[in-house]
Amino acid sequence: MNGRTKVSNETGVVNKLSRLRLLAALGVCAVSTTLLGWTRIEEEMPRHPLNVAQGFANEASCIDCHAEAADFGETGHARTLLPADSEPSLSLLQSLKDSKLPAAAEVSIEHRDAGLFAVRGEGANSQEIPLEWCFGSGHHARTWVGCLSDSWGAADLVEFRLTWYAMKNEFDITPGQPADPPPGYFQSLGALFDHPKTRRCFACHATQLRVVDGRVDFDHIHPGVTCQRCHGPRAEHVASEGKISDFSWRDIDQVESVHRCAECHRREDDVDGEDIHEDNPHIARFQPVGLMRSACFRSPEMTCLTCHDPHTPLAKQKLHEDWQCNQCHHENPKGTAQPHCGAGEESGCIRCHMPKVRSEAPLEFTDHWIRVRSDTDGTHAGQ
Ligand code: HEC
Ligand code: HEC
Ligand code: HEC
Ligand code: HEC
Ligand code: HEC
Ligand code: HEC
Ligand code: HEC
Repeated sequence: MNGRTKVSNETGVVNKLSRLRLLAALGVCAVSTTLLGWTRIEEEMPRHPLNVAQGFANEASCIDCHAEAADFGETGHARTLLPADSEPSLSLLQSLKDSKLPAAAEVSIEHRDAGLFAVRGEGANSQEIPLEWCFGSGHHARTWVGCLSDSWGAADLVEFRLTWYAMKNEFDITPGQPADPPPGYFQSLGALFDHPKTRRCFACHATQLRVVDGRVDFDHIHPGVTCQRCHGPRAEHVASEGKISDFSWRDIDQVESVHRCAECHRREDDVDGEDIHEDNPHIARFQPVGLMRSACFRSPEMTCLTCHDPHTPLAKQKLHEDWQCNQCHHENPKGTAQPHCGAGEESGCIRCHMPKVRSEAPLEFTDHWIRVRSDTDGTHAGQ
């Protein structure tokens, strides 16, 4: 028995909880794991030394010496986690009343002194859950969660049943959650995750995540994937005015570089090998898995950084302008064995070789398994 079971007894969650948790544990961004049989991350997250109480510098100081910080605040990384009662999360939640989704009509959002709550029903029969954090920058989706302390003081997480999707600018059911929830307290408003799962959500969406006695210290959380999540704690670096650097991206090899991004974007060995095939659209959400299978990866210069600048918002990276392919193809500056497009095309490479594909729910991702495809001929690319 643990504290979580106690929570469920107190609140009348039926014994279906463990089954529900299996569904719920998939969450928005982990939903394809049902299809992909992903186990390893469950055991080993986080790989990166996150649980460091000391050594973090004030991130506001980075901009004193580094231009990289200038536009960083607009990136999906910087904005991927925010308190639910801050903008733009609050406005979106308030717009729930205008949603045409039938499931939304049953739910209202109440802003009280104690915070935000999603409430279903009225009076003695009403049910409610707290909404404390908003996951997702909104480039794809936003999902809300609230924390519930169990009797050990560890936070379990309840994930709100409704997610806002950018593709349709509307709410819909959170992926991994059932369209028709079974009766019970949390089921009608969300799904319950246990503490290890809770910790993993924050490990991939936050920077400074102190875990004290196995519990997330929410008072000291630093939301978002910010400078020191990728560059390691930098207090000594700042004190030494840049002379001390512990976790550098210089002098690491191709695979190590991709694996550092794949710690969150998923490594090949996080996914069941049988699911890694060209016809599985769900694999597109795990960009490193596809990229490493692509013939282009034979070039030792191919990493995520060949195309992406992690300090610049995606829209400003101009990735549809062919420049990144032309580093190796087109004029063949790097002596690639297949220098030119076999179809004789000289532009629009992404459209045919890296289209967006529908993953699950109203979500689509860019297929990073660069290849000649049978499903894109330029007229129906990405369908
Ligand atoms: C007082 C100035 C100063 C501040 C403040 C500062 N840095 Fe630096 N940083 C430097 C200097 C100087 C270098 C150049 C060292 C070199 O090129 O090897 C550097 C290099 C770097 C590098 C590249 C080399 C490496 O270690 O990988 C990174 C990354 C970096 N800093 C991150 C940060 C972050 C993150 C912060 C904020 C927490 C920060 N810096 C704050 C002065 C500073
Ligand atoms: C600590 C986990 C973590 C690491 C490490 C990480 N990412 Fe991400 N990344 C995320 C999350 C979470 C998002 C989703 C942001 C959102 O909510 O839209 C994301 C989003 C992105 C996006 C889309 C940004 C947008 O604005 O829509 C790109 C591109 C990206 N990551 C590239 C990288 C690259 C390249 C690396 C390695 C240099 C990397 N990531 C390392 C967690 C991580
Ligand atoms: C292994 C790291 C990892 C874990 C664990 C994780 N996420 Fe994510 N999450 C990501 C990455 C990476 C993205 C960005 C996906 C992309 O844009 O390609 C993301 C995206 C999202 C998004 C934006 C919508 C979308 O699907 O792109 C939401 C919302 C989200 N995660 C919520 C959660 C919640 C809630 C949990 C816990 C149940 C969780 N995540 C656990 C890495 C993780
Ligand atoms: C998603 C991971 C990620 C985040 C977040 C991130 N960086 Fe970086 N940063 C990198 C990578 C990867 C490189 C190496 C780039 C390369 O080699 O092309 C890098 C390189 C650098 C460098 C060295 C540039 C050079 O020319 O050598 C500095 C300085 C730096 N980052 C500062 C920052 C600061 C300041 C922030 C926060 C505002 C930040 N980074 C946020 C991944 C990240
Ligand atoms: C050959 C160039 C290229 C490389 C290498 C590359 N990307 Fe991308 N990436 C793109 C393009 C193009 C887009 C779509 C950009 C857009 O729509 O504005 C994209 C979009 C993304 C997104 C946004 C979500 C999506 O799927 O549309 C994420 C996250 C991402 N890349 C992560 C990564 C990671 C992690 C790596 C390393 C494993 C990587 N990328 C390597 C070209 C590249
Ligand atoms: C870092 C260098 C590099 C970059 C950048 C690059 N490629 Fe490649 N590409 C290669 C190499 C290497 C091969 C394999 C041929 C060879 O061995 O020379 C290849 C092969 C291909 C193939 C043939 C695939 C197959 O299965 O035979 C296609 C299609 C392709 N690239 C398209 C692209 C597109 C589109 C982009 C931009 C989104 C791109 N490449 C970016 C290096 C690169
Ligand atoms: C209209 C869709 C379309 C566009 C746009 C396009 N390609 Fe292709 N590409 C194809 C098709 C189809 C093939 C397969 C041709 C064949 O084998 O008959 C191909 C083949 C390739 C190959 C493999 C060559 C070989 O010898 O087998 C490479 C490399 C490539 N393209 C690169 C590019 C680059 C770089 C761009 C952008 C400058 C680009 N493609 C734009 C459709 C496209």
